[in-house]
Amino acid sequence: MKPITKAVILCGGLGTRFLPITKSVPKEMLPVIDTPVLGHIIAEAIDSGITDILIVLSPGKEAIERYFLDAPILEKKLLDSKNFEALEALKKITSGANFNFVVQKSPLGSGDAVLHAEKFCSGEPFVLALGDDLIYNKDNPVCGQLIKAYQKKGASILGVQSVLTDDIIKYGVADTGGVTLDEDKCAKMRGIVEKPPLDRLPSRLAALGRYILTPDIFDTIKTTLVAKNGELQLTDSINAMARNGNFYAYDFIGKRYDMGDKFGSVCAIVDYALRDEVFGERFREYLCSIRN
Ligand code: G1P
Repeated sequence: MKPITKAVILCGGLGTRFLPITKSVPKEMLPVIDTPVLGHIIAEAIDSGITDILIVLSPGKEAIERYFLDAPILEKKLLDSKNFEALEALKKITSGANFNFVVQKSPLGSGDAVLHAEKFCSGEPFVLALGDDLIYNKDNPVCGQLIKAYQKKGASILGVQSVLTDDIIKYGVADTGGVTLDEDKCAKMRGIVEKPPLDRLPSRLAALGRYILTPDIFDTIKTTLVAKNGELQLTDSINAMARNGNFYAYDFIGKRYDMGDKFGSVCAIVDYALRDEVFGERFREYLCSIRN
């Protein structure tokens, strides 16, 4: 089986839960210490063997594209002052993968956003990541886990985790027909329900922003009906593929943060600060000192 080398990252969405900062800074560019959320997601993809990345933007999110542009004046300044550490950090942004961008001009939903990637994917299966779902796993990046699950099952994969709280109603929830996970931590799906009410949960397995999609997703999206809100919902197309028996839920290992949400963002920043090799210990002491 050919390795998966392409990833599509969706960076649409207005970030309304994070206003006012998202009026001018896209939520995907909000910092986790010194790196934007998107930078962490890209690192996860590259560490998983991805070499080509397409970022799907909505209008007004030009700051994302600007982040990837060369900065010759800054580079020269850093070189002249022999600040090689900062120079390396700058160069790292664009090294490791080829970056492509496409603008989804109208807000027609996640299904429509994925359709913008059809040419880029050129008939190959690909990783899909949502730009506001940050998932930490230092040694076993989540995209890579999903790629391995795809190689075992030979079908599309939905990255899920068990959500036992009422928060589950915020997510797409896998319908596995009551079947439990197999030895590969996968379960064949019968469907997926977007944001189900608590009394009609098909399972506790929630989609958390990582997918492996086979190229038949594009034709499926084209035949998917527009939802009541006027958008093409990716979940509806995944549901159609799952009903044909071609989708597995895979229970990934990693800590996921909802970066479109203030609380999720603060949790990520605290956890990443505690993990920091340089000042993690100092920060831990600081937290202890303010505990009361
Ligand atoms: C989207 C997806 C949903 C998924 C969630 C993960 O929802 O539609 O299926 O569970 O991302 O973050 P949104 O957060 O855009 O409402």
